[in-house]
Amino acid sequence: MPRHFLTGAELSRDELMRLLERARVLKAEPLSSDALHRRTVALIFQRPSTRTRVSFEAAVAELGGHPMVLRTDELQLTRGESMRDTAYVLSRHAVAIGIRTGPDELAGELAAHGSVPVINMLTARHHPCQALADLLTLEETFGRLEGLVLAYVGDGNNVARSLAILGGLAGVEVRIASPSGYELEPVAGAVLGTDPRRAVSGANAVYTDVWVSMSDDPSSAARRREALAPYRLDDALLELAAPDAIALHCLPAHPGEEISSEVLYGPRQRIWEQAENRRHAQKALLEFLVGGRFN
Ligand code: CP
Ligand code: NVA
Repeated sequence: MPRHFLTGAELSRDELMRLLERARVLKAEPLSSDALHRRTVALIFQRPSTRTRVSFEAAVAELGGHPMVLRTDELQLTRGESMRDTAYVLSRHAVAIGIRTGPDELAGELAAHGSVPVINMLTARHHPCQALADLLTLEETFGRLEGLVLAYVGDGNNVARSLAILGGLAGVEVRIASPSGYELEPVAGAVLGTDPRRAVSGANAVYTDVWVSMSDDPSSAARRREALAPYRLDDALLELAAPDAIALHCLPAHPGEEISSEVLYGPRQRIWEQAENRRHAQKALLEFLVGGRFN
C-alpha cells in the first residue's frame, strides 16, 4: 500500500519533524535533490489555485521530475468516468498524484484505488500541504515548534482543521476562535473558543483565512461576512499577542475583510515567506512519499 497524505494524520510526529528538517535543507539548497529524476507527478485541479499549482509545479521540476497539471475540463471525469478508473490509469504513468477537489470522498476514492501516493492539495475539509508550509514558517521564525502558541481566528474551515491536526502533532498549542455556527469540531489538543481576543492573548503567531471558502455556498457569503466581522485580524488584535508575534494567512487574502491591509503588508507578517515555503515543504513531502529518502 502506498503512503498517502490526505489529512496529515498519516504522519507520525517523528516523520513530521524529519520532513520539516528536510524542507529546511532543501530551502537552503533548492537544486540539491534529484529525487524525482525523469518521473511524472500528476496534479489534478478541480478547483482554482495560484499558490498550490505554482509551488507544486516548481517543486516537482526542482526535484528533476515532470509536473503534469490536469484541469477538470481536460479529464474524462467531466464525462462521467469514475475516480476509481482515473486512479487506475494515472497510477500506471505517474509516481504520485495530487488532487485539489471539493468533496473529501473524491480524494479518498483516488487514494483507495491508486497504487501510488495521493496528496491532498485542498479539499473542503483539509489543506495539509498548507499546514506543512505554515509549520516550516513558524520553525524558521522561532527556531522551534514545541510549546509555541498559534492562534487562528475566523472560520473553522479546512485550513483551521489542518493546522489543528498538524500543529498538534508538532507540539504547537493551536487555539481556534470562531463564531458560533462556524466552529471546528473538536480536534485532539486544539483549544476551541469563540473569543478572538482570548485566543490571541500572548500567542506567538496569529493566523486567519478567508471567510468564504471555495466549497462554501456562495449565497451564504453575506451571512458569513456579518458573523465573522468581529474576527478580523487587524493591528488592534495583533497587539494582544506576544511582542514578537507574527501574522500568517494562507492566501488568497481579502484585505479589509478577514485581514487588514496594515497587517497583510505590515512589519509583522510572514505571509509571503509562508507562500514560498509551500514549495520547500512539498519537495520534502514528495521525497518522503515517493523519493525513498525516508524509507
Ligand atoms: N493557499 C493556497 O492554497 O492558495 P491557492 O488556492 O492559490 O493554491
Ligand atoms: N479556506 C480556503 C483556502 C484557500 C487556499 C478555501 O478552501 O477556499
